[in-house]
Amino acid sequence: MSRISIIQDDITRLAVDAIVNAANPGLLGGGGVDGAIHRAAGPQLLVYCRTLGGCPTGEARITPGLDLPATWIIHTVGPIWRGGKAGEPGLLRACYRNSLALAREKGLQRVAFPAISTGVYGYLKRQAAVIALEEMGAAEGFDELIACCYSEADALLYRSLAAGTDRPMGRT
Ligand code: AR6
Repeated sequence: MSRISIIQDDITRLAVDAIVNAANPGLLGGGGVDGAIHRAAGPQLLVYCRTLGGCPTGEARITPGLDLPATWIIHTVGPIWRGGKAGEPGLLRACYRNSLALAREKGLQRVAFPAISTGVYGYLKRQAAVIALEEMGAAEGFDELIACCYSEADALLYRSLAAGTDRPMGRT
């Protein structure tokens, strides 16, 4: 098992081995955490991303962190929420697994994740958090995996799920 930390922060501030970006299939930037990461990493990130030729939903790609305090950026593309019957849970799981597989290949020990798909892509926050915590919790051999929540509400949700105190019928 790896140590799991739940924090509330701006992921672009974290000095870890890799931060994960919730990107889109073009990998050429966007809003939300993707926009924040591109702004903080600097314009060279777009130059790197152009060489990658995009990324299908559920897969992951890696670039240097450039001007970020993090050494690497793992870009993954979460599913757009379409009601839950379009394979969204499997694709979201694949984002975490493939990001962690890339991190492992590179020998990275501390990796931070945002709440993939739960912003612009509209994934239900509680269902997404369950998947995030399950996948991080199942990953062996990392020093620390960090769930980096942007809002206090998200941090509370993750902490209550991790502690097993979330209401079973919670609909967040
Ligand atoms: N640090 C940590 N988390 C953040 C930050 C930040 N600086 N900024 C936002 N979040 P979103 P998605 C949280 O919309 O739903 C982009 O345009 C945010 O509160 O960034 O996967 C891409 O280019 C939410 O909990 O990503 C795609 O087109 C989480 O990050 C599309 O949005 C994810 O929200 C991807 O949508």
